[in-house]
Amino acid sequence: MFPRLRLRRLRYNPVVRDMVRETHIRKEDLIYPLFVVPGNGVKNEVKSMPDVYQMSIDVLVEESKEVRDLGIPAIILFGIPEHKDEMGSEAYDPEGIVQRAVRAIKKEVNDLVVITDVCMCEYTSHGHCGIVKDGEILNDETIELLAKEAITHVEAGADIVAPSDMMDGRVQAIRQGLDAKGYVKTPIMSYSVKYASGYYGPFRDAAESAPAFGDRRSHQMDIANTDEALREAKSDIEEGADIIMVKPAGPYLDVIRRVKENFNIPLAAYQVSGEYSMIKATGRLDWIDEERVMIESLVGIKRAGADMILTYFAKDVARLLDKQ
Ligand code: PBG
Ligand code: ZN
Repeated sequence: MFPRLRLRRLRYNPVVRDMVRETHIRKEDLIYPLFVVPGNGVKNEVKSMPDVYQMSIDVLVEESKEVRDLGIPAIILFGIPEHKDEMGSEAYDPEGIVQRAVRAIKKEVNDLVVITDVCMCEYTSHGHCGIVKDGEILNDETIELLAKEAITHVEAGADIVAPSDMMDGRVQAIRQGLDAKGYVKTPIMSYSVKYASGYYGPFRDAAESAPAFGDRRSHQMDIANTDEALREAKSDIEEGADIIMVKPAGPYLDVIRRVKENFNIPLAAYQVSGEYSMIKATGRLDWIDEERVMIESLVGIKRAGADMILTYFAKDVARLLDKQ
């Protein structure tokens, strides 16, 4: 008890403060999302995401080298196809935009883990995450296509596939599909606990994937639920997920903690587009210190229990760590 106990003792000296710090952000924790579009020499800034670009494959390859040179171990790729149709056919086309991008990166960039997002919403004309019939997203038909999509990504060279669709049974369908082709060593990072969130708004500008009608509440989780998060995580693990994910991250730190305490499996958290853009926008207004809040947001996500973080700040963080 005070005066014998003085908790400030460990806070006076900055070196001592560093010694007793409990949570660290390391480059190895970071996964950088990238958006690939058709064309050549294309680099379009996303209107609602400062410093985030849609890039054609040639630009993307150079960007991937920069990411690797900064010491970021992994990227996650999202594709914006030339043509969208009802069946999202470019999603599982071996010559689709993501498949070609993966091949180009793998050919030119060593030592970069390439993760691919597996979903249909960027590829369907209606912008939904699966096959739609009579206004409903069909589950069992969609997971067959997701398995095909994942196989074409791995055939192109993807190191990890990340299904983000939230259909039931898709991890099992993908695992069986990959195994049947002999890809038994390719991990699945499942978006296991993905909420129907307003924070995805800017991403839909970046991926041009806003649903043309309705919303994603018939497959993404209700924002109010956490027991259900544990059931989602459990079923994905049983179906063969190697890494599970909670998304968004910042507003769901309680969920990250609960999932981490309940399962012994690597846990990723996705600091999504809206979390990024809110910090960027207020930073640009000089209403907050962008760099401080960026780090604080990421330390919070790790403190909650995430082992790795998908974040649009990855390059900024890597540069900051280099300065320190
Ligand atoms: C596709 C997908 C989305 C995100 C990742 N994969 C959008 C959505 O579900 O609408 C969101 C990522 C972000 O907001 O940064 N299903
Ligand atoms: Zn989707």
